Amino acid sequence: MRTGNLGEQRFSGKLSADYALWRLARPFLGEVHAVFASELRSFTEDRSRPLNALDLGTGDGAIAKLLLTEAKLDVTGIDSEPKMLEQARKNLSPSIKSGRLTLALDDALHFLGDQPPQSFDIVASGYFLHNLTADNRMRLYGEIWRVMAPSGILINADKYAQIGKIHGEALRWQLARFFDVLEARERYDLLREWVLHYAEDEAADRVMPEADAIATLERLGFADVMIVYRKHMDAVLVARKQG
Ligand SMILES: C[S@@+](CC[C@H](N)C(=O)[O-])C[C@H]1O[C@@H](n2cnc3c(N)ncnc32)[C@H](O)[C@@H]1O
Repeated sequence: MRTGNLGEQRFSGKLSADYALWRLARPFLGEVHAVFASELRSFTEDRSRPLNALDLGTGDGAIAKLLLTEAKLDVTGIDSEPKMLEQARKNLSPSIKSGRLTLALDDALHFLGDQPPQSFDIVASGYFLHNLTADNRMRLYGEIWRVMAPSGILINADKYAQIGKIHGEALRWQLARFFDVLEARERYDLLREWVLHYAEDEAADRVMPEADAIATLERLGFADVMIVYRKHMDAVLVARKQG
């Protein structure tokens, strides 16, 4: 476990304590997870165990939980926010006890820098990459490429921005949904935090356009880079490293 500088911690306050409420404002999250699981299954079905999977920005363990449904996988989850990781520890304690899940408190870039090349068959993530600045995200994609084994796969469920008016409409839909869910519960404190968080995500040095992500991954050498699902702001991106 790392105790030094954990980098920018955008989930240290209310956002981690009330993370479950964020889910209510995204009613299609079940679909996102189903698409993730289906991509995962089609990757694992022809492969034999053991396969190593890495979940970046594990949070409360939503993506790690999906990875663990595949019996062939051993999973490592990393997150820089102790309060989020604590939720994963609680939610997934049987898998930690059985040795299939290892959790680490660390900054993602720092953690990846310590991993040997080609050490993970699957690099997965949910709603983590958009939190990074564009510079750090570029470095992170490079590290993902380095640590991914030949024939490996990247599956990322996240907020990928589209271009122009359609992005504005998607953002408006999402903000309106936060108001609907949180005003009804009189959670104006949380409403403020989420709206500010989403506004910061729109900054020029942080926003994550899908076209840039696809171009960067292709430049690194990834093949079949595709958005396989989209609903409003949220999308699932898949990319493969050829064997
Ligand atoms: C929106 S949550 C997503 C949690 C979970 N993966 C999910 O799908 O619901 C984003 C997570 O990324 C973590 N995170 C943000 N920046 C990070 C970094 N630089 N290194 C490691 N984790 C980071 C946050 O602490 C938070 O738990």
